[in-house]
This record gives sequence, structure tokens and C-alpha cells, in this order.
Amino acid sequence: MKYLIIYAHPNPKSFNHAILETITGELKKKKKEFKVRDLYKIGFDPVLSSGDLLAIQNGAVPKDIKKEQDYISKADILIIVFPIWWSSMPAMLKGYIDRVFSLGFAYDITEDAVIGLLKGKEVFLVSTTGASKQDNESMGAFKMMNMSMDMAIFQFSGMKVIGHKYFSAVPYVSQQDRKKMLKELRVLVKEKLL
Ligand SMILES: Cc1cc2nc3c(=O)[nH]c(=O)nc-3n(C[C@H](O)[C@H](O)[C@H](O)COP(=O)(O)O)c2cc1C
Repeated sequence: MKYLIIYAHPNPKSFNHAILETITGELKKKKKEFKVRDLYKIGFDPVLSSGDLLAIQNGAVPKDIKKEQDYISKADILIIVFPIWWSSMPAMLKGYIDRVFSLGFAYDITEDAVIGLLKGKEVFLVSTTGASKQDNESMGAFKMMNMSMDMAIFQFSGMKVIGHKYFSAVPYVSQQDRKKMLKELRVLVKEKLL
């Protein structure tokens, strides 16, 4: 199994970065093959331009997009790590999806159907929220986010969603609670991904 971790947080001291380190730590322990695309660190350009659209339509995928598509093509499992910003993913990650999950790569449109082209691949998402678990549940936020991201992007592209783990109230809980979250994550990685 080859893993690709797509990571979107600008701060290397963030809890999301601790999540990234926890996941890579578990993969290293099991000597798994993995790559990390740290979108802020590599300075990924998240803006889908008119030039990109034209090039994609003509089958001439821009070099930086093709590079990311090749990483995805080589992976069996994608692990996506990001904070929830405005009930969704950071614009950096959304822009990565806009540009990399392009027509002809992630999906195709035929006369009578839209086909997901990333069949056979699996995806596991890990997100953090400021809101509490209870508030996220009572507002229907988890349901809405699972629909707009897990289903509308990844399932749409033909992938199997293994799960979407949310860690809630991250900025407001104690350091000890955050350590417990990382412990829970280690168990999840072992159970679902190894
Ligand atoms: C621009 C922005 C928008 C945010 N929007 C939400 C939101 O919609 N729902 C929520 O629960 N938390 C929201 N938050 C809080 C973050 O999700 C939270 O601070 C983060 O997940 C904590 O992880 P970190 O320490 O790794 O950044 C937002 C934070 C920022 C900076």
C-alpha cells in the first residue's frame, strides 16, 4: 500500500501539524511507503485560472497540476489533514481540489453519466474544529461537511471514503486532552489504515 498525505495548515506549531507527525510516525513504524504534500510549504498555487481551464480542456494539463496528479495516481490511500475553516476546508486545500481533481483526471462526463475516475483508491480525512462536538452535532455541521467534502468531492471522484475523523474544540481543551486525541488517532491509524 502506498500512502499520500495531503496536509493543509500554514503553522508548523499547530495541532494539525502534531496530527501530521502522529500519522507519519505510525507509518514509519510499520515501514510503510508514504509521501507528504504540505501545500503551504511547497507554495502550491491554489487559484484555478482561465489559462488552467483552457489547458485542461485541450488536454495539456499544466506542469504543477500534473505533478500533483502523478502523486495521487501512484497512491492507494490518500490521507487528508486540515482544520475546519468556515465549515469547510481552507482555501488552499479547496484550490488544490479545484486544480488537481480536474475533468479527465478525477472525473469524466459522458452522455448519460458522470464517472469517478479515481476508483480503487481510498481516502481518510482528519479535521479539527473550534466548535465542540455537541455544537457540531446539534447544528448538523458534521453531516453537512461530510456531504460537501467526503461525498461531493471524494466519493464523486470514485474513491472509497474510509472515514472522516473530527477532533472538536481543539483550541479550548487542555494539553492533556489534546494528547488523548493524538492517542486516539494512533489507534485509528492502526485500525483503519495499516
Ligand atoms: C479562518 C478560520 C475559520 C474557522 N472556521 C471555523 C468553523 O467554521 N467551525 C469551527 O468549528 N471552527 C472554525 N475555526 C476554528 C478552527 O477550526 C480551529 O482553530 C482549528 O481547527 C484548531 O486547530 P489548529 O490549532 O491546528 O489550527 C476557524 C478558524 C479560522 C482561522
